[in-house]
Amino acid sequence: MKIIEKKLVIVQKDVSELDIQEKELLEAAKQATYRSYVPYSNFHVGAALRLSNGTIVTGSNQENCAYPSGLCAERTALFYANSNQPDEAVVTLCIAARDIHGNFTELPVSPCGSCRQVMIETENRFHTPIKIMLYGTKGIFFVDSAKDMLPIDFDASFLD
Ligand code: THU
Repeated sequence: MKIIEKKLVIVQKDVSELDIQEKELLEAAKQATYRSYVPYSNFHVGAALRLSNGTIVTGSNQENCAYPSGLCAERTALFYANSNQPDEAVVTLCIAARDIHGNFTELPVSPCGSCRQVMIETENRFHTPIKIMLYGTKGIFFVDSAKDMLPIDFDASFLD
């Protein structure tokens, strides 16, 4: 028997420990939550990503009465960025969320599996890991790469 162990390293920081670029991205993610369209869940998610040319692109969750037709904030931002600036790698992605009472979540909000899969595709496409920042009012989680958050992911090599 062989055991393959893969550990996820999460670094937790306080807002006061962020550098200027990280603070700017966090602010953009928080602001994006106010542009969500969430009549069904009332859970407002904002995503802000920084491209290799320094541009910030944001997205928010967009729901639909046919529930699966809606899209998460992260993929809204990633698809917008990749379709408008297809030559720019995504270097950092920050996510923030407000709950049904309108308050930012205490615990860092964590991306769903489908968003992780799309983040990994973007990492592979640009050969660049995406630094993930997950915001919570009690602390911000940092993960070095989306790949770390989805072990044994599906990748294009299976299609060869
Ligand atoms: N949602 C996101 O936008 N991102 C996540 O990482 C998790 C969930 C959205 C989908 C749906 O609009 C609402 O949050 C509740 O699931």
